[in-house]
Amino acid sequence: MRIFRFSEIDSTSDFLKRKDDKRDYDLAIAETQTCGRGRRGSNWISQKGMALFSFLLKVEEDISIEEYSKLPLVTGIAVLNGLKRIENLDFKFKWTNDIYLDDKKICGILVEKIQDFFVIGIGININNSLEGAVADIATALTISTGKKYIVEDIIFTLLDEFKKQYKRFFDGEWNFILEEINNRNYLKNREITLVGSNWQTKGIAGDIAKDGRLEIITEKEKIFANIGEIHIKRD
Ligand code: BTN
Repeated sequence: MRIFRFSEIDSTSDFLKRKDDKRDYDLAIAETQTCGRGRRGSNWISQKGMALFSFLLKVEEDISIEEYSKLPLVTGIAVLNGLKRIENLDFKFKWTNDIYLDDKKICGILVEKIQDFFVIGIGININNSLEGAVADIATALTISTGKKYIVEDIIFTLLDEFKKQYKRFFDGEWNFILEEINNRNYLKNREITLVGSNWQTKGIAGDIAKDGRLEIITEKEKIFANIGEIHIKRD
């Protein structure tokens, strides 16, 4: 495993994407990012004290692309379990790829694909403070515990947990992983709004289904939201 450390870079995910000689589990870590990216083209504000890192995962021929659509969920439960190893707090998994603590976002995950690699980018609020409007929707580990952490130790714990969960996934243990995810399903029983390109509908979130879609009970019917297709607004 090669480790690339930066005090500042545009984006750890973009750095890995640009690399000509990509290798499985290449890891890029930055203290800050000038162009941190979130999902759906959003900006990821990257401050010192956060865990900001990305790693490469080589596409395995034996796993179909449909199976790989569950990768954000596998990464999510790995991050959640890894964080629990650091502090045994009530972390929740918010479908499709966020981790919540105390009803606020603590971590975002961005899974992208380039050539025969996935680039998994993770941003977690650890030692950083959050001010203004962002403090209403986001939290940091230090806010909950009052402690300061060695960010790199956390990154290595999370990577170790990812390897464990990915092996389980590869070995056909998806059903067990899914059960764990559903036990930590933040959206369950909450009213949410699904936002498509030119429509939106309200419903109550249910379990995450076997194929990774989220069950939603609307006034009229039960529907399933696809990973990546739909934006969820919590009311
Ligand atoms: C999201 O919640 O929208 C996903 C945020 C992902 C942010 C991480 S920080 C490290 C990596 N580099 C980036 O530019 N983005 C990801």
